[in-house]
Amino acid sequence: MTNEQLKQEILRLKREKNAVILGHYYQRHEIQELSDYVGDSLALAQKAQQSDNDIIVFCGVHFMAETAKILNPSRKVLLPDMEASCSLAESCPADDFAAFKAQHPDHMVISYINCSADIKALSDLICTSGNAEKLVRSLPEDQKIIFAPDKNLGSYINQVTGRQMLLWDGVCMVHDAMQAEAILKLKAEHPDAPVVAHPECNAALLAVADFVGSTKAMLTYIERSTARQFIVATETGILFEMQRMNPDKQFITLRDDKSCACDDCSYMKLNTLEKLYRCLRDEQPEILMSAQMIEAARRPIVRMLDLSRQLGIIK
Ligand code: 13P
Ligand code: SF4
Repeated sequence: MTNEQLKQEILRLKREKNAVILGHYYQRHEIQELSDYVGDSLALAQKAQQSDNDIIVFCGVHFMAETAKILNPSRKVLLPDMEASCSLAESCPADDFAAFKAQHPDHMVISYINCSADIKALSDLICTSGNAEKLVRSLPEDQKIIFAPDKNLGSYINQVTGRQMLLWDGVCMVHDAMQAEAILKLKAEHPDAPVVAHPECNAALLAVADFVGSTKAMLTYIERSTARQFIVATETGILFEMQRMNPDKQFITLRDDKSCACDDCSYMKLNTLEKLYRCLRDEQPEILMSAQMIEAARRPIVRMLDLSRQLGIIK
């Protein structure tokens, strides 16, 4: 089938089966175009919770589809490619994390949503890059905290809030590989271009950024800015929405420095039109979880959504 035929078939199957397609900003542009909602992890978790469709097709990575199932267990949740993992989730095996947690019984556990359901079940509160800073600030100053699995996001939150959270040693293989030196070179060539970066980047890179935020926050910053050019330190999929929202602005990435083609997430890019079509047609691969795991992992996610509403981060 041609791409055009695949698109028509996907739209037909979606209508016939009362399915909704949720897509992350890092997905291939043809998948973002077909998605009913495109968003960051926080917005997509909310959409999944609110969905009354029979089928949720999650075009993102495994932990995102798993979160959708946890928040709306009576729906059939599909992920076009079950291999779409995340290096952060992989970096935190449940047994090792349980042992680490047991060594610090007086600490509460905050986990970044980029983790497995097992880690969520061991956590008191989940956060995303879109709410982490405000959630941490809302806790009592003397609250001892373990933060997992992203040490870059954790150390950034420690830096801006003055906390001393204990950090699990995990990284996003995509953002952690981006180098401050390459950004500084681009900055020298484009002195008027602000640098926008995702907080999963390493501390040296974040130190030279003009704005640090979630995928959604970066989009909002760029939309409101009067600058005409931006240096973007995050996964390339987001350029589709950046350019769509800002047709007159120019985006410079690490590819323009030629030193790195490291800004593609190979997991995110596993989902293709062909796999999306087959997944809707065959209604698999499906996310399946035990009721017990859903219940245990749900508590800290619901706590995050409730707290985010109370703090005015989401509606
Ligand atoms: P956002 O929640 O900012 O969309 O980030 C998700 C992610 O996987 C970043 O690598
Ligand atoms: Fe995980 Fe990094 Fe890919 Fe996001 S970009 S899904 S954090 S590996």
